[in-house]
Amino acid sequence: MMHLIMLGPPGSGKGTQGEMVAQALGLPHIATGDIFRQAVKESTKMGRKAQLYMERGELVPDEVVVGIVSERLKKPDCKGGFVLDGFPRTVAQAEALNGILLGLGKKLDGAILLEVEREILVERLSGRRVCRQCGATYHLEHTPPGEPDRCDKCGGQLYQRKDDGEETVRRRLNVYAEEAGPLEAYYQERGLLRIVPANQPIKMVFADILRKLGRGQ
Ligand code: AP5
Ligand code: MG
Ligand code: ZN
Repeated sequence: MMHLIMLGPPGSGKGTQGEMVAQALGLPHIATGDIFRQAVKESTKMGRKAQLYMERGELVPDEVVVGIVSERLKKPDCKGGFVLDGFPRTVAQAEALNGILLGLGKKLDGAILLEVEREILVERLSGRRVCRQCGATYHLEHTPPGEPDRCDKCGGQLYQRKDDGEETVRRRLNVYAEEAGPLEAYYQERGLLRIVPANQPIKMVFADILRKLGRGQ
């Protein structure tokens, strides 16, 4: 049983590591950004609303996100725990998560904070490519696909996220910087914050996370 959240700036590796940790522990990996991108793709009412914020690199309003997460965490696959990625992003969301978990009779086991300097984040985001079909994430230099623009896992086409353009990345990083301090303090005060230096190879970051969760060698 592990209820984890992944914190860290855009490009710090929340998706990459969240997926690996979830796999290793047999838990669902729940990313609010992925949920929104799916809703945008399907052009649902919520998706059309979220798109306006995402394209500008702004946060989707708390009440929208909280509602989605609250529904998602009630699903049966979350019974044994979960790895939440991209939520919470504000203290208001952190408090809402507390309430949701209380209602479900669960409690958080850890908040993993991936720390990476800003210049490296920009480089990671500009080189990122994502599979349109299965969502697998690549990096043109660090983890390139075998064939250009094709997913190794499913053969799907790779694309660049709309919000990975230079201007929007800058905005996203600034938005993160505004919210990060109070959010980190929130989990620090509760003894849940686990800081992981994430400017290392993917495997080493992963090993570090497992160690900090008491699951490593
Ligand atoms: P979201 O999708 O969550 O975006 P984000 O937080 O900006 O984070 P990213 O997904 O860009 O980065 P990541 O940390 O997952 O890095 P990754 O593993 O891909 O949110 C998008 C938008 O949705 C938000 O802007 C907002 O509008 C909305 N939203 C979502 N949640 C919300 C919420 N709770 N409240 C309000 N609005 C919300 O890695 C990046 C790249 O680096 C990849 O190419 C990867 O291959 C590479 N890489 C990863 N690790 C390493 C490594 N160790 N070494 C070298 N390369 C690496
Ligand atoms: Mg992500
Ligand atoms: Zn794929």
